[in-house]
Amino acid sequence: MAGLGLLALTVIARWAGPGALPERVEPILPLTPAMVPLVTGDEPLAQLFAKAGCPVCHTIPGIPGAEGRVGPKLVLAQTGPARLADPRYRGQAKSVREYVVESILNPGAYVVPGFPDRTMPSWYGQKLSAAALEKIATYLESLASESAPRSPDGRNRELHPAGG
Ligand code: HEC
Repeated sequence: MAGLGLLALTVIARWAGPGALPERVEPILPLTPAMVPLVTGDEPLAQLFAKAGCPVCHTIPGIPGAEGRVGPKLVLAQTGPARLADPRYRGQAKSVREYVVESILNPGAYVVPGFPDRTMPSWYGQKLSAAALEKIATYLESLASESAPRSPDGRNRELHPAGG
């Protein structure tokens, strides 16, 4: 955890610095497989994300301390439909849930515009059990935004009606 915290600070410091975003970020993101233990899926959700290191790079509403800014804020119920509808999308996913899983196992399948390629680790398939992946997908596919998770009256007009 301390290691990841340090990494997070380094990453934020680099990315929040003045000027344009760096064109290449590979050298400053040394999140190696050795730093991530096997995630079984038995962990409570927040611990599961922390173990996997996702909060280093992602803001994840509802997960304490997940305020990373290297990758997009994970609000897939809100952003997922637009990813799948993007003409540049060439992945295999047919649903937001499949897109979440694909993004984790094969991040290069679609690189979110405005964010760097080859930055999200490509080895999560070796670190996340099927159960862990299920838990992550279930949480992320339903996540819209901090302020309006599932407000019955104050509807977020970007929210895609998920129908379930
Ligand atoms: C070292 C930084 C880093 C780590 C660690 C990381 N990601 Fe990412 N992630 C990114 C970046 C950068 C992108 C955007 C570029 C891309 O699409 O590959 C991204 C994209 C994504 C997307 C697509 C988001 C969207 O809005 O379309 C998902 C889902 C995702 N990551 C989930 C995760 C999960 C879950 C974990 C932990 C198991 C994780 N990431 C760990 C950097 C990271």
